[in-house]
Amino acid sequence: MCGIVGYVGREQAAPILLDGLSKLEYRGYDSAGVAVYSEKTGEMAVYKAKGRLKVLSDLIEGGAMVDGTVGIGHTRWATHGAPSDVNSHPQVSRSGRIAVVHNGIIENYAELKSFLMDQGVPFTSETDTEVVAQLIEYFCEQDQVDILEAVGRCLRRIEGAYALGILCADAPDQLIAVRKDSPLILGYGEGCSFLASDVTAIIRHTRSVSYMDDGEVAVLTREGIQCYNHLMQPIEKEICHVDWEIDAAEKGGYEHFMFKEIMEQPEAMRRCISPRIRDGEVFLENFPLSDDYIRNISKLYIVACGSSYHVGMVGKYNLERMIRKSVEVALASEFRYMNPIVDERTLVVVISQSGETLDTMAALREARRLGAKILSIVNVVGSSIARESDVVLYTWAGPEIAVATTKAYSTQMAALNLLGLYFARRLGTMDLAEYRRVLEEMLLLPEKMEAILSSKDDIQYFASQYFNHSSVFFIGRNVDYALGLEGSLKLKEISYIHSEAYASGELKHGTISLIEDGTLVVALGTYRKLFEKAMSNVVEVKARGADVLALTTESHREEMAKTANAVMTIPETHDLLLPSLGVVPLQLFAYYVALMRGCDIDKPRNLAKSVTVE
Ligand code: M6R
Repeated sequence: MCGIVGYVGREQAAPILLDGLSKLEYRGYDSAGVAVYSEKTGEMAVYKAKGRLKVLSDLIEGGAMVDGTVGIGHTRWATHGAPSDVNSHPQVSRSGRIAVVHNGIIENYAELKSFLMDQGVPFTSETDTEVVAQLIEYFCEQDQVDILEAVGRCLRRIEGAYALGILCADAPDQLIAVRKDSPLILGYGEGCSFLASDVTAIIRHTRSVSYMDDGEVAVLTREGIQCYNHLMQPIEKEICHVDWEIDAAEKGGYEHFMFKEIMEQPEAMRRCISPRIRDGEVFLENFPLSDDYIRNISKLYIVACGSSYHVGMVGKYNLERMIRKSVEVALASEFRYMNPIVDERTLVVVISQSGETLDTMAALREARRLGAKILSIVNVVGSSIARESDVVLYTWAGPEIAVATTKAYSTQMAALNLLGLYFARRLGTMDLAEYRRVLEEMLLLPEKMEAILSSKDDIQYFASQYFNHSSVFFIGRNVDYALGLEGSLKLKEISYIHSEAYASGELKHGTISLIEDGTLVVALGTYRKLFEKAMSNVVEVKARGADVLALTTESHREEMAKTANAVMTIPETHDLLLPSLGVVPLQLFAYYVALMRGCDIDKPRNLAKSVTVE
């Protein structure tokens, strides 16, 4: 959601900024802009355009018509003020000497705006961000202080969440970066420095980065980067090396990132699982939770949003079975408003691909305030959630660009299962032979996923049969219900087909009244203990005219095919791992349906990859 990139160096800035912004497109945006300072004119040029980045790029001829080696760029996701050229960032102060790009929300902007207007400062946009540019200039002029001091004074007045990139024509050899509750990364190059919302925007130029912490300010110059804490005292930041390849964030010949990421799942699963199973045991490197602590846990509380929450739903079924402790699952957006029962003996498991989801972060902080320990399952290394957790299990899925998560979901589930198995072993709640069987089966998941992916044409065929339905129901019991939640979300978010997931047993309590001739029901019947019940539900909806596309294991194909209109299958595996395989056909189905409907698969309307506002 919104993307920031900044560059100060010796090369022309505009093409670098446009390239960086193109890598941030996946986050979701509705307009884009750049501000570049020209040494030749002594002026700052600002270009902004509503719509796709291409509109901006065409406007400035791919950057060729903008002179200057220092600049900031932004992709905006509208919050305050509609998407428009004027509301796009950078926002500039009234003299045009200060430009600001901003991710997040300035909560007290209305009050500050009216203060500034009373001082005669005119506003041109409806954004909260313009207040920042105007306020900094106000302090520069009123208090006769330099830009850094003015930024410091501004920070003491603004409230909310923000990552800021600031360019001032009166200090043109530097950029200022500020972070509070919204991610910002600093990049160290040869004779140049970068700032960006995430690593993908700058990895082409440098692999040496540091992650800003809340309250920090950084001054970027060609010579290097100086960071300050919230008291504006100079601090040293740890410089980390980004070790993934540039290709990982490129389409690599695939038409869509989503498809590429679906196909990458076997490899992502190998990376996540293989190093964590050694000699028939779960091995979690440097895992700090002692056996005593684990035994003393009263309950696990999983908090997450969207697909990560769906992983938590599977986790409730799986972990309660493995560890025989209570596992609660809450939507992160609800958690902090529900007065949750959490204390020192609660382990809160936070799941997030991006590690930046604002609701999830807020839930984490609330859980910490209540005394819980925080274990997070995160994909993005160095992200805010990872850094605020007591324990992190990285999913190692590699960069995920498509808005619809696929490989992150699968690897989150693998990490959660590994955690459950690790605890079960310490608690003695699982039969050793079964524990070993699950581990053996986990190691086989990548190749079983490959087998499913190799039959993708069958799923494409089913998609061609059903892509024009206007409403779909996913039904299932136990882990199949949890899996249905994800299948349904995947379909609706990228194909815009109305879709709902129901626990099959709930159908007769209301929803079955919606089933009529031709309604598409995706019936999930992979969980073998409840297969007969799944069959009964298929018969029940068929009797009311539904078209049934079923998903089951290979051994149940024949029986399912007697009633369902079409059957997708997955290889046999341990019950605990069925959703790990079951999700793959559902992802492919959603992908092909969206493809046939001509949807913008990687960037569905109204959605952002990383949701950094409440
Ligand atoms: O980065 P996170 O895992 O915290 O994101 C949570 C959700 O926003 C995310 O899973 C979302 O639901 C996906 N677009 C689903 O595909």
